[in-house]
Amino acid sequence: MNEFKETVDYLKSKIFDIPDIAIILGSGLGTLADEITDKIIINYKDIPNFPVSTVVGHKGELIIGKLNNIPILAMNGRFHYYEGYDLKETTYPIRIFKLLGIKTLILTNAAGGINLNFEKGDLMIIEDQLSFFSESVLRGPNLDEFGDRFIDMSNVYDKEYIEILKPIMKKITGKCQIGVYAYMKGPTYETPAEIRALRNLGADAVGMSTVPEAVVARHSGLKTIGITCITNMAAGVKNEVLTHDDVKETAKKCENNFKQVIKELVVAINK
Ligand code: HPA
Repeated sequence: MNEFKETVDYLKSKIFDIPDIAIILGSGLGTLADEITDKIIINYKDIPNFPVSTVVGHKGELIIGKLNNIPILAMNGRFHYYEGYDLKETTYPIRIFKLLGIKTLILTNAAGGINLNFEKGDLMIIEDQLSFFSESVLRGPNLDEFGDRFIDMSNVYDKEYIEILKPIMKKITGKCQIGVYAYMKGPTYETPAEIRALRNLGADAVGMSTVPEAVVARHSGLKTIGITCITNMAAGVKNEVLTHDDVKETAKKCENNFKQVIKELVVAINK
């Protein structure tokens, strides 16, 4: 708690008005930051106890400003387990958001499409998640200051917000893909056998982020929304070799729709 407090005190000294909404920008989706006005930018390396992001295509900046005139805080660059952080470190910012007084968390990511009705470039609303192959980020002594030991997980992604998001998605992208996001630890992409198994388990998309953050957000009582950019069809679905460059390139192509969706979403949930 002392570490958290040091981080929070530093951020409070830099941010005058704490917004209600925080957005974590996924791989290749960082240019949403360009749309933020009246902004102040804080480098992760300047924030006491904050981890520093190492992935190519991820910056390491906290941006506080306005999106479509709505006050928001955005994380441009997140922390992944595959980088070597432990799960607690990957979710450190979520605890900080809670302590700052943030109410709603918008998690975004790039992922592989498992659902055969999906196409590369689609945006998907995350309806629920699977994380069988990773230990829980909440393992260890419970942080009672944030939440209970045993947490109901039937509403990780806020149902009311999903209903708000559906028509926005339809209007902007012409479709409304919604599904289950499966978490894999990476950094390898999955094997075709893993993808077939995940499909049988009920997954629609697969990626290497978001789930630990969503679990901590749930534990902390933050309302969560998840939006995935399907940057590729998952291993074995098409006869394609998966590369991070292709993932970033497709994310770039999704970006206009993605930005538009988020801009309308923040207005809709701010009402
Ligand atoms: N698998 C896991 N993570 C990903 C993928 C994928 O196919 N695409 C983008 N992130």
